[in-house]
Amino acid sequence: MRVVLMGPPGAGKGTQADLLKERSGKPKLSTGDMLRAAVAEGSPVGKQVDEIMKRGDLVPDDLMVAIIEERIKKPDCASGYILDGFPRTVAQAETLDKMLKKHNLALDHIFYLDVDEEVVVERFAGRRVAPKSGRTYHVRFNPPKVTGICDDSGEELVQRSDDKEEVVRHRLTVYREQTAPVLEYYRKQGRLETVDGMQPVEKVYEAISQRLHGAAA
Ligand code: AP5
Repeated sequence: MRVVLMGPPGAGKGTQADLLKERSGKPKLSTGDMLRAAVAEGSPVGKQVDEIMKRGDLVPDDLMVAIIEERIKKPDCASGYILDGFPRTVAQAETLDKMLKKHNLALDHIFYLDVDEEVVVERFAGRRVAPKSGRTYHVRFNPPKVTGICDDSGEELVQRSDDKEEVVRHRLTVYREQTAPVLEYYRKQGRLETVDGMQPVEKVYEAISQRLHGAAA
């Protein structure tokens, strides 16, 4: 099961990746979470990407590809993984295809979570994340069991620094210019599976799960 979740910022990629990981046991490879962890650690990669992420711009392709290539070699990825936030440019998508082809592998499902931009902006205002695990909540649509605390790790939930409205608007522009062409790349190959991302979280999960297994997991 090699799955890609695509869609604009706030489409629910991370939320669905968390559910898929929890229920399938496959690792969630979120490039955003990996980069945020690098920034929090103050590693050389973190220092390189901090300002880029604060602006809402994309990190260079060669760096992203190197991070993903390294990660998918790890033993826990042998039977599959859930990609959240990668690929994000046509160059990344092409490189991923080549990387998999070298091992006679391919992506099994590429899901596009289709969501209107106004909905996305509303979602960001209420988003809260667990800084270490990256698990995502929404104060209204997907609240934790105890307000402000992550269900899994017990960490205190915070708002992401790139969730300010002006940065969100810029991320949406970057998405339209650089990531929307990736949808076209997969659509032309007949591999893009569109899911209505405006439904409640569990309904979106059900739609994905049915395509993965032919029934809800
Ligand atoms: P990243 O962390 O990947 O951010 P993003 O793609 O902008 O996506 P988000 O994480 O903001 O949204 P999401 O779709 O995961 O939605 P979520 O589930 O949280 O990337 C951050 C930065 O890292 C980039 O700007 C870039 O700088 C860099 N980067 C990362 N990958 C890169 C790459 N490959 N190349 C170059 N640079 C890269 O949901 C949002 C909110 O809505 C939550 O509060 C959630 O609870 C709620 N929600 C979710 N689903 C629903 C629903 N169905 N109904 C109601 N509410 C919902």
